[in-house]
Amino acid sequence: MSLPKAELHLHIEGTLEPELAFALAARNGVTLPYADTEELRKAYLFDDLQSFLNLYYELMAVLRTEQDFADLADAYLARAAAQGVRHAEIFFDPQAHIARGVGMGTVVEGLHQALARSEETHGISTQLIMCFLRDESAESAMETLEAAKSYLDRIVGIGLDSAEVGHPPVKFREVYEAAARLGLRRVAHAGEEGPAAYITEALDVLGVERIDHGLRCMEDPELVERLVRERIPLTLCPLSNVRLRAVGTLEEHPLPAMMDAGLLCTVNSDDPAYFGGYVGDTFHAVHETLGLDQERLRELARNSFEASFLEHDEERRAR
Ligand code: ADE
Ligand code: ZN
Repeated sequence: MSLPKAELHLHIEGTLEPELAFALAARNGVTLPYADTEELRKAYLFDDLQSFLNLYYELMAVLRTEQDFADLADAYLARAAAQGVRHAEIFFDPQAHIARGVGMGTVVEGLHQALARSEETHGISTQLIMCFLRDESAESAMETLEAAKSYLDRIVGIGLDSAEVGHPPVKFREVYEAAARLGLRRVAHAGEEGPAAYITEALDVLGVERIDHGLRCMEDPELVERLVRERIPLTLCPLSNVRLRAVGTLEEHPLPAMMDAGLLCTVNSDDPAYFGGYVGDTFHAVHETLGLDQERLRELARNSFEASFLEHDEERRAR
């Protein structure tokens, strides 16, 4: 499935495949609590978002040097290119690294090494979005923004991720205001496990331009009307929703109903190493399982460019 497309919801740490995790562990003298890749893969059975996040943060222990981050990003970009990705807006979670003694500079410069050569090597233009962990404090988010000030030429915007329920967008009002003053674009995860009200709050209080997931907007018809009217993009991740049990099965995923309602939907892979597929695999799955025809798939691909942070002429070139 190689329709040209943009990927807008992708956590670079969620592209850490078991083979690379073990290779980096060996390179850095880190011992993982799994005998081998097979045993590790057996741990990929999740009950909810938190059970996934526990493993996601645990495996980050293998990422220590600029080279590690460059290798991680390069491996993702190679896979993405093979699946038709022409533009990627990539999330990273600096707080999860800083807490382990790996500084902002190591993360950003390492990722940048791979991203800077990506157009040439993989035919993919890229942007970096720095996410705050919403289950950490607002003060910690503000310190992270401060630490990012030396790297603003490398970062297009900010996002909000990690455990959603109990951590409403309003907690991060000041840090989003400060980011806006720095000229950063704003997105946030909302309505993945949390309620539809978090989507409204992310729009009204944080001023986000896109909603990551937004699945639960379907519980609020007035919100759906608003999202349609304002053409707010949703970066949906159907395979993630199944693996994290936000929906029962892929057959039950509301993507077709969301497209029918006129929502600006995109499909993305979220954490492809953990959820059973990259974005081309996701297009394939929604075609096979949800019966989206070629016209609908083309609509999703077009939406991905429209919803991206590319400027008009860049967008045309990428398509
Ligand atoms: N971090 C990585 N993947 C995530 C997801 N699906 N939701 C929230 N935080 C995340
Ligand atoms: Zn996500």
